[in-house]
Amino acid sequence: MSDLIRFGVSLEKELLDKFDALIAGKKYTNRSEAIRDLIRDALIKKEWQENRDVSGAIVLVYNHHKRGLVGRLMDIQHDRHHNIFSTQHVHIDHDHCLEIIVVRGKARDIDALYSRMKSTKGVDHAGFSITAIIDNEK
Ligand code: NI
Repeated sequence: MSDLIRFGVSLEKELLDKFDALIAGKKYTNRSEAIRDLIRDALIKKEWQENRDVSGAIVLVYNHHKRGLVGRLMDIQHDRHHNIFSTQHVHIDHDHCLEIIVVRGKARDIDALYSRMKSTKGVDHAGFSITAIIDNEK
C-alpha cells in the first residue's frame, strides 16, 4: 500500500454505533478497513455515473431445464458480444448451471447487460462485481 495518512473523523455516537453494528457481521478487523472499502465503493460508483470504461464479472445461476432460458441468455450475450471477453460455464449439479461472464465496456452498457440477464425469467441468482477500472487517460 502507498503512503498511509491518518486523519480524525468526528461523527455522532448514534451514527458510529450503527456503523459498528454494520461492520460487526463482516470480515473487517477495524474501522479503517471498513471506511477504506466505503471510499472505494463511492469512487467506483462515481466512475459508473460518469459512464467510464469499466470491467468486471457477471455471475448467473440458473436451471438449464427451464424451457428457452439457455437460448435467451445466449441471444443476450450475442447481442452484446463486443462487451464480453469470456464466459465460463460450470455444471454445478444435475439441474443448475453457474456462468461467469467477464465483461468490459462503458459503465451504462455493462449495467444494461447485467440488468437484462438478471431480469431474464428463470435466472435464480445474478451478481456483479467490478474487478478493474480502465483509465484511458493514462
Ligand atoms: Ni450447465
